Amino acid sequence: MVDVILGLQFGDEGKGKIVDYFAPGYDVVARFQGGPNAGHTLYINGKKIVLHQIPSGIFHENKINLIGNGVVLDPITLKRECDSVAAMGVDYRKTLFISQRAHLILPTHRAIDKASETSKGNEKIGSTLKGISPAYMDKTGRNGIRVGDILDKSFTTQYIKLRLKHQKLLDNFSFTEDISTWEEEFFGALEFLRELQIVNGEYFINEKIQQGKKVLAEGAQGSMLDVDFGTFPFVTSSNTISAGVCSGLGIAPQKIREVLGVTKAYCTRVGSGPFPTELNDETGELIRHTGNEFGSTTGRPRRCGWIDLVALRFACMINGVTQLVMTKADVLDSLENLQVCDKYLINGKETTEIPYQMLRMNIHPQYKNFEGWKTDITGIKSFNDLPEKMKSYINYLDTTLNIAVKFISNGPGSEQIIVAL
Ligand code: GDP
Ligand code: IMO
Ligand code: MG
Repeated sequence: MVDVILGLQFGDEGKGKIVDYFAPGYDVVARFQGGPNAGHTLYINGKKIVLHQIPSGIFHENKINLIGNGVVLDPITLKRECDSVAAMGVDYRKTLFISQRAHLILPTHRAIDKASETSKGNEKIGSTLKGISPAYMDKTGRNGIRVGDILDKSFTTQYIKLRLKHQKLLDNFSFTEDISTWEEEFFGALEFLRELQIVNGEYFINEKIQQGKKVLAEGAQGSMLDVDFGTFPFVTSSNTISAGVCSGLGIAPQKIREVLGVTKAYCTRVGSGPFPTELNDETGELIRHTGNEFGSTTGRPRRCGWIDLVALRFACMINGVTQLVMTKADVLDSLENLQVCDKYLINGKETTEIPYQMLRMNIHPQYKNFEGWKTDITGIKSFNDLPEKMKSYINYLDTTLNIAVKFISNGPGSEQIIVAL
């Protein structure tokens, strides 16, 4: 049996905290896509840690943490992260497993990412520059190098061949930065990676499922950044939606049970691209400030806006969401009034559907107004104690999306979560 936790917006919905919260109920936590572009924040005994490559179940003893075949892996980031979790007492050598089919991010992938973004000028995607797109391009272009290959004696030849290909691309971009230090670090990190538990991920996970073990699949990014269904081309390069769980771990669709969709009580986006409900005013600034909306991976300020139910309904549909988790509800505590977008007005026509492209049209979000609850909810433990005005806000989400908000997160702490009645 496999349950999924994934983001329904543009990433950073608080997936890391939610995975950490649910991890005790599972035997395996598995990442199925994305790479070090992800930044999943956890508070472990009050100490903050941001995970980029390692699944968010790593702090729970005796849980298996699998980096699946759908992930792109940067050994340098992985090594650094392993050192950080080890310093916090985690014996990752026992609990971390990596699929031999996961593709590697090479230093030249990062360089190409940077060169490509720079060449786009004003049209840049706002990539995290972690080499995600070039690594996935080499995967689908059938040039990539996989984790299993580092155990093979052909590895050096494979590396040199791909390195030469990449150099031609970099020359085309007139990229002249010296990446020799990255490469040195990369080869050091490969030595480290060779010592970890590299497994045949699909057999590994299916055996666990067969034995009755419970698997939690951890999404990275968000549904509106999905390469097929997001705001293309301002997306990431993987399938972030629940379908990605099957291809990213090697499990069959009927094994998936619950799909927990995580949404903030408002919306944020980091990087470029359409964001119909964005607030470029003092309310947006207040949300950014109160919610500490700065990228976990890059430190960039996140763009902030109202919750968008058109996008959320779309995300629930393509993911088959069965339960909703609403995070960062406390960030709205001080607001006088709140708005919820429930339709778009495009060329004078109302719609509740996401257009296939949002760049070349004027989208006017239509809002329903709510009074703010003006109460500090961060210490509240039970649903009954939440302010009535907040309950109406939640109730509107439940009924409009036709899926229940089952969990409400009211602070970054691992214990700050309320189960809805
Ligand atoms: P992820 O990428 O989806 O795991 O999310 P991030 O970790 O990038 O960003 C979420 C941020 O919000 C982190 O700084 C979390 O510590 C914080 N956070 C998570 N849930 C809550 C919440 O309910 N309230 C507040 N105030 N912060 C939260
Ligand atoms: P988590 O897992 C928020 C965004 C980037 C950029 C676009 C493409 O922490 O939610 P990429 O590096 O993939 O080429 O960038 O996607 N992006 C994220 N935004 N959270 C993330 O991950 C993101 N990963 C990528 O800002 O707009
Ligand atoms: Mg994040």
